[in-house]
Amino acid sequence: MPKRIFSGAQPTNQLHLGNYLGALRNWVELQHEYESLFCVVNLHAHTIQQDPKVLAEKTRELARIYLAVGIDPQVSTIFVQSDVPAHAELAWLLNCVTRMSELDRMTQFKEKGRKQRENTSVGLFDYPVLMAADILLYQTDLVPVGEDQKQHLELTRDLAIRFNRDFGETFRVPDPFIPKVGARIMSLHDPTKKMSKSDENPNSSILLLDDADAVRRKFKRAVTDSGTEIRFDPARPAITNLLTIYQLLTKQTPEEIEAHFADKGYGHLKAELADVTIDFLTPFQARVHGISDEELDAILNSGSERARALARPTLDAAQAHMGLHGSHIAGR
Ligand code: AMP
Ligand code: TRP
Repeated sequence: MPKRIFSGAQPTNQLHLGNYLGALRNWVELQHEYESLFCVVNLHAHTIQQDPKVLAEKTRELARIYLAVGIDPQVSTIFVQSDVPAHAELAWLLNCVTRMSELDRMTQFKEKGRKQRENTSVGLFDYPVLMAADILLYQTDLVPVGEDQKQHLELTRDLAIRFNRDFGETFRVPDPFIPKVGARIMSLHDPTKKMSKSDENPNSSILLLDDADAVRRKFKRAVTDSGTEIRFDPARPAITNLLTIYQLLTKQTPEEIEAHFADKGYGHLKAELADVTIDFLTPFQARVHGISDEELDAILNSGSERARALARPTLDAAQAHMGLHGSHIAGR
């Protein structure tokens, strides 16, 4: 059996260069080696308040972005989470094997939810269990994600192991795939924080749908470190972040890049970085806008049909192993 990968992103706010360099870029690479499923996780989006109309539009836009970065619908399955009811069904079963204390430890929840616990949805607390259901439903081998998802992957593995032990062998235990370079692209405004969709400062992220002027302006305003040297150096996180973006977009080695910028200043680095980013974004954005509604509908319909078929046997097995799925009917 070919090994399988599964990953997804939320159709909330705007995707940024961190999402691309940390995750989507690797999906495109891996799709030729693995049987691949890429999901627009719209149920996850509702863990924070959403305008339903905007969410529906963003869901389609994100599917267009998957296609435009290079996910090939002939090779990979692209679908919308809510089109496959098995995700929510398995999430309930997994809820019943997850402990409160496990979810209480999730750093993402601590950052996002704990501050205002009174007004936070149960969905936000439970978010990692739905994510585990997404992954386990497809007997996934590998999950390509950015570094911020590592803890959620550990929980997914723990839940799979526990379920298999308590109810019988049901799920494959997946491994994370976190790239060596680019797993945590930092904010342009504050290199101690990751580039984040929910950052209030618009200058902190380059959005995948930003125009050329915005890209130039944001790089120009990006904070730098003291000193003038252009080198990869963990002690100088702002410049290292800019160089990492440059490295991933140009596919040059750190040595080549340091040599190239050896006698140049920060202004030069920023201008060149804007150029290579715009060279990447311009054709990408043309592809986003070039996909027709009909084409997109056809891809998402066949994607969800295939995903439903792949999910069914695992959901059936999980239910049967828990004494559900008709296993209570006499004679079965
Ligand atoms: P999300 O925006 O939360 O739906 O994330 C989609 C994917 O992008 C996930 O695999 C994240 O781990 C990844 N990601 C998000 N922010 C960053 C970042 N700053 N650097 C690298 N990867 C990221
Ligand atoms: N939690 C992920 C994020 O915020 C999105 C996600 C949901 C996901 N389900 C998934 C990623 C399954 C990988 C696999 O980025």
